[in-house]
Amino acid sequence: MKVTVVGAGAVGASCAEYIAMKDFASEVVLVDIKEGFAEGKAMDLMQTASLNGFDTKITGTTGDYSKTAGSKVAVITSGIPRKPGMTREELIGINAGIVKEVTENLVKHSPDVIIIVVSNPMDTMAYLVHKTSGLPKERIIGMGGALDSARFKYRLAEALESPISDVDGMVIAAHSDTGMLPLFSKATRNGVPVSEFLTDEQKASVIEETKVGGATLTKLLGTSAWYAPGAAVSVMVQSILCDQKKMIPCSLMLEGEYGQNDICLGVPAIIGKNGVEKIVNITLTVDEQLKFAEAAQAVREVNGDLKFQS
Ligand SMILES: NC(=O)c1ccc[n+]([C@@H]2O[C@H](COP(=O)([O-])OP(=O)(O)OC[C@H]3O[C@@H](n4cnc5c(N)ncnc54)[C@H](O)[C@@H]3O)[C@@H](O)[C@H]2O)c1
Repeated sequence: MKVTVVGAGAVGASCAEYIAMKDFASEVVLVDIKEGFAEGKAMDLMQTASLNGFDTKITGTTGDYSKTAGSKVAVITSGIPRKPGMTREELIGINAGIVKEVTENLVKHSPDVIIIVVSNPMDTMAYLVHKTSGLPKERIIGMGGALDSARFKYRLAEALESPISDVDGMVIAAHSDTGMLPLFSKATRNGVPVSEFLTDEQKASVIEETKVGGATLTKLLGTSAWYAPGAAVSVMVQSILCDQKKMIPCSLMLEGEYGQNDICLGVPAIIGKNGVEKIVNITLTVDEQLKFAEAAQAVREVNGDLKFQS
């Protein structure tokens, strides 16, 4: 099955590489607007095939969407990333126009496509795709929670001094520095609540480090991160193409779930061959419910900056 990745930059190329390395897709098509860039990235990646032992075909195109026709999944990573000190929300002006145009091109050539939105501010970009693409809501999925949960597990393992494979945890709500909600109450070390091992001070530090995980990397790298974002997308694409039905927190259009309507926010969902197979309703503590509602309010304000005919 064919996967398109729009934006052959840091995240797009990393995503294509992880998908190819796991060898579950027949073809990955990279698309970029920069002349020759996607073709070059595709050729470089293809030259790793015999070294890394994969058969996935990777091709690149400068804006020729006919090459993306018949894609089962399309990942939108096109747009600008943040620089140190910027919030994801500050990217909206440029990225909204790019995401809207890219979506129209994708749907024109692959009407049955499932779209994974990565470009920031991601919850608002996912909302924009819902409002402009005409696709059913099950086929539009924002990537944020998969990455933020991986960062949460990294910070938990660090505090617990345990291997990451012993740790489980999930981040829901908004993909923003303030709106992220690491579900500490549900995080476990081999099935045992992590609160049994960590002090209140350690808990506060894990939560804070998780929420600013992206900003910390942006400061170190001078641009936003790409390895973990690319890996997170590849897990979601694999769950769709291989119909794994993994439970992954994703930014989805809510219609009453978690007390919210007409907004895309991170919630746990079963991801399979049809895209979103089911939104999973979990019980939140009163404090978590409050924080979820606050995150929704903040995302709603950013959504208000979008200019489109709904
Ligand atoms: N959701 C997440 O968890 C997450 C994580 C990391 C990055 N991001 C976001 O992903 C986006 C990409 O980040 P990056 O680091 O890969 O940036 P990048 O600058 O390395 O790559 C972006 C690419 O998009 C291309 N592009 C721009 N306009 C285009 C268009 N109209 N059509 C096709 N391609 C176009 C650019 O030429 C560039 O190659 C940013 O908005 C960033 O904030 C999101």
